[in-house]
Amino acid sequence: MLSYRNLLALGVLVYCIQANPTSIKIDIHCDEPSVTNWCAYMELYEEDTPHNHDDITTAFWCTTEHQKSLDYPKMNLGWDGSLDYEIGYQLTHTCTKDGKHKCMKSEIQTVWEYSEGSVSFNNTIYDIGYDGKCKDINAY
Ligand SMILES: *[C@@H]1O[C@H](CO)[C@@H](O)[C@H](O)[C@H]1NC(C)=O
Repeated sequence: MLSYRNLLALGVLVYCIQANPTSIKIDIHCDEPSVTNWCAYMELYEEDTPHNHDDITTAFWCTTEHQKSLDYPKMNLGWDGSLDYEIGYQLTHTCTKDGKHKCMKSEIQTVWEYSEGSVSFNNTIYDIGYDGKCKDINAY
């Protein structure tokens, strides 16, 4: 029986099928004064099952500033197959003691898929991570 309540639930469901855009803001701090120039390669991704993460975007930069901000307003991340997005990034960077590459990973943040959600990261990276460049996020 199609009751009024069921109809309402159906309406909400249909409305919800369309995932909404998500805004992502990332502030990266390389606060160590002795580092006068550093480079980084970032891979922003949406975490799915292991080895099947979705690349959202990548960025590469070199800078003499101690802060780098990245702003991605209203990204359409598509269908996740769950109710929320798990968003994180990994960074190969040279904001390190010896100037060699390290690979750091951000925390994973969760955002509800069906509202115009936003996540922001604010990470300090000086000498953080393991030695060497990051592997591809889906590498074994
Ligand atoms: C972000 O991190 C920096 C450095 O750790 C800190 O000084 C700043 O207050 C933080 N900003 C926010 C909005 O939390």
